[in-house]
Amino acid sequence: MAQPTRFGSLRHFEKGGVEVIKDDPRNYVFSNVFEVASKAKPYEKVAVGKNIEYVIEAIRAEGTSGWRVAAQDEFALVMDGEVEVRLVKPDNPSLVPPGSQGSVPLAGDPTGRPRSARPPPGRRLREDDAMTTDTLPELGSIEPNQYGYRNFALGKFTFARDEYFVHVRWPNGTHMLPVDAFLRAIQRDVAWGFFYGIVNFDTVIGTVNHYGTVDLFAGRFNAQYRQAGLDYSENFKSDAISRLFEAILADWTNATFDPFASPEETGTAFGPKNGSNKRAITRHRVTAKRMIGAPGDEPVRTDDNGFPINRQFTDVPQDAPEVHAEPGFEHEVVSVNLFAYLSRSDVTWNPSVVSVCKNSLYCPTTEEYILPIIHGNDRVEWFVQLCDEIQWEVEDRDTGAVRARVTMKAGDVAAMPADIRHRGFSPKRSMLLVWENASPELPALYASGKMPPAPVQF
Ligand code: PHB
Ligand code: FE
Repeated sequence: MAQPTRFGSLRHFEKGGVEVIKDDPRNYVFSNVFEVASKAKPYEKVAVGKNIEYVIEAIRAEGTSGWRVAAQDEFALVMDGEVEVRLVKPDNPSLVPPGSQGSVPLAGDPTGRPRSARPPPGRRLREDDAMTTDTLPELGSIEPNQYGYRNFALGKFTFARDEYFVHVRWPNGTHMLPVDAFLRAIQRDVAWGFFYGIVNFDTVIGTVNHYGTVDLFAGRFNAQYRQAGLDYSENFKSDAISRLFEAILADWTNATFDPFASPEETGTAFGPKNGSNKRAITRHRVTAKRMIGAPGDEPVRTDDNGFPINRQFTDVPQDAPEVHAEPGFEHEVVSVNLFAYLSRSDVTWNPSVVSVCKNSLYCPTTEEYILPIIHGNDRVEWFVQLCDEIQWEVEDRDTGAVRARVTMKAGDVAAMPADIRHRGFSPKRSMLLVWENASPELPALYASGKMPPAPVQF
């Protein structure tokens, strides 16, 4: 029988927490939005997440708020109950102080034309991902091996697969990984454009993103390999390594295997070569320019456009926000049910951009089983657990030494410091909001020590 989806509410929430192994729990700035809101005054804005100039605030909406103006987009996610939001286009544009950041309270009521009323119990975010596959003969052998799979090479690295394993070789070492785990990892690495910082496929092999070029490495973030002098890295143009991973995915993914799916929702990756699954490995990558559901932006998901409700989210309400726009403002008022959107995701562990404010990106995703990579970040990122539960194993980014275990339940918020690596475990399909700051300046600021690895100093 399907397990129920567990959302939090002001009346009932459970809180996870940080189990420290060798760490300071303050690094994770752990809180729960329902707890924070239940202790706040109505419409008091309490920052629960802060990434340089961007914040996430928890607000208890009760009664009627004052009016506020902002010089930039703000995104509101209703986590409990129902909220009516009224929008007005002010007649007087100088209500927004020039150069201001964030929202500013107004003394009275603004005069202006109403734009809308009432969003409801959803929010806006989204998820998805993809890549294009192009087999490039110069990267791989023409003749298949005895199991039917081609061998691949890039620089001094070679990749071969048998029925169960991938064999990676480099000048001073060799390594084996299970082929299902390897395909899940390279699928995400290439779909995410090598992500932020380090994507470890396991404790030995992975990539470092230099945003234009990428290092492929063995043993580089493994204290024992480093001490033995056995680590190895090679730098490639991002495009070359994308083409390699796309070619491997095309050749090594059998007909029944989907690297983005949960283990229960896909067939086996193992055995001799058996067809291919181009549809699974070339999914559209969803990256909203401003917000999903906005005119000309990424569409919401429906049965009709090929996104049925996932088997583990059949109890997630599908009601859509009511939007009442004044004539002439129909294209300016956007509200979607984010939980319904996520309940229709056909992939796991695949954050996608559903809303954008400058470099602040909301990247929600649905999670089931184990994050197929171990992410070593080059900046701080934040998690907001939207439903159910994920446990995170956190290790030192460079050595792999164990630091903490972070348990996140619905409504929990936690930062992931810039000097860790982490891997998530989700026993039931769950919804997670990953909040990223995509500013290109950040890796250098953290690497030089100008910015401390934890986002808040207590
Ligand atoms: C992460 O590394 O922070 C991450 C990656 C993929 C997910 C969730 C979190 O689906
Ligand atoms: Fe991460």
